[in-house]
Amino acid sequence: MATAATKLLLIDRVPGINRVPNSYIRPQADRPNLTEVEASDASTIPLIDLQGLFGPNRDDIIRQIGKACQRDGFFQIKNHGIPEEVVQAIMNIAGEFFRLPESERLKNYSDDPSKSTRLSTSFNIKTEKVSNWRDFLRLHCYPLEEYMHEWPTNPPSFRKEVGEYCTRVRELALKLLEAISESLGLEREYISKNLGKHGQHMAMNYYPPCPQPELTYGLPGHTDQNLITILLQDEVPGLQVLRDGKWIAVNPIPNTFIVNIGDQMQVISNDKYKSILHRAVVNCDRERISIPTFYCPSPEALIGPAQGLIDHEHPAVYRSFTYEEYYHKFWNRGLRTECCLTCSRYPRLRIYSKLRSCSFCVDVEKMRLFHINKLSCQLSLTCSPPHPPPPRRPSSSLSLSESFFIAFTSKRKDSTKISPFS
Ligand code: OGA
Ligand code: NI
Repeated sequence: MATAATKLLLIDRVPGINRVPNSYIRPQADRPNLTEVEASDASTIPLIDLQGLFGPNRDDIIRQIGKACQRDGFFQIKNHGIPEEVVQAIMNIAGEFFRLPESERLKNYSDDPSKSTRLSTSFNIKTEKVSNWRDFLRLHCYPLEEYMHEWPTNPPSFRKEVGEYCTRVRELALKLLEAISESLGLEREYISKNLGKHGQHMAMNYYPPCPQPELTYGLPGHTDQNLITILLQDEVPGLQVLRDGKWIAVNPIPNTFIVNIGDQMQVISNDKYKSILHRAVVNCDRERISIPTFYCPSPEALIGPAQGLIDHEHPAVYRSFTYEEYYHKFWNRGLRTECCLTCSRYPRLRIYSKLRSCSFCVDVEKMRLFHINKLSCQLSLTCSPPHPPPPRRPSSSLSLSESFFIAFTSKRKDSTKISPFS
């Protein structure tokens, strides 16, 4: 018979535990510091009423959405159009699923993140050093007919209720994507036309009560790797969002969803909209269930900043990549606070010119391109903020050798120091 410590799922380990096992304890410097978390109300995390999104209030609602995406990366929505019964049904099903006997639940268990349907624990149990106080069932859910046959059959109404919910949430996601496209000044269909065949994943997160919540996380600070997340949570608080260096608790409001910008939206918006760090903490007394829907591109979709948002003043911050490339990176590197997006930013060099006594940041790939094309590259185009005060406007152009040695093509030999910047 398996002892508590060898159980695969946390829910089966927790009964009888009165201390957090060592493998869940975070180092001192990386604990939730629960006493320093700020409370939120509807004004901290904007609560946007979607009633009238297709009526005369559309422009105003889109303005509110745009402001929230830019400033907060998170907002709450009410009057979202998903019937209460559908929401209640999926919450009930999730609760029933996690209360099934262990042997029944374990039929869905896998520690392989590439599986499209799986029950697992923590985040990526095979690769991480410290575990998280969470079990989760993860499902791919678009197109429904491709994945539904993999889903659990117990509770018996699981597929029906979850399928209904997924269809409704997808409709909502598409409406939000249209609104977000418009809020960026792009054509209404822009985002949805650039996601390949689209994808939709869902998690049912189960956070058991925890005897020492100050030592561990349900989920540590992370950004979501997808496009937008639509989160349903029960009435137990746990979600926290980072704002101005402080963690803010997002307390549940009945009949609302929480929407947050994911990494792909940050890329498409060329950094105008932010994929914000958030985390889930646990508590001593009550289990908590949350159900995020991760709306995403399909694996082959090519993601990059929208052309309409790029100009001389706003050069592309990211290179393009396929969603598949990004997705694997996200799951394999472990849940880390520094955003996975860093790897997709254009590498930059800081160039210090002795002659001009100032430094410039230049996109390496652009310079390569310029070099290959034997074009000259005006410094004024490529330097990024903070703009150096140009003591003399460089009339000369930059030329670049393969070894990244840069010299100004001026009459006087100007020595230039180059160091990798990011
Ligand atoms: C997630 C997530 C928050 C929560 O699953 O990515 O951020 O409250 N969940 O469960
Ligand atoms: Ni998240």
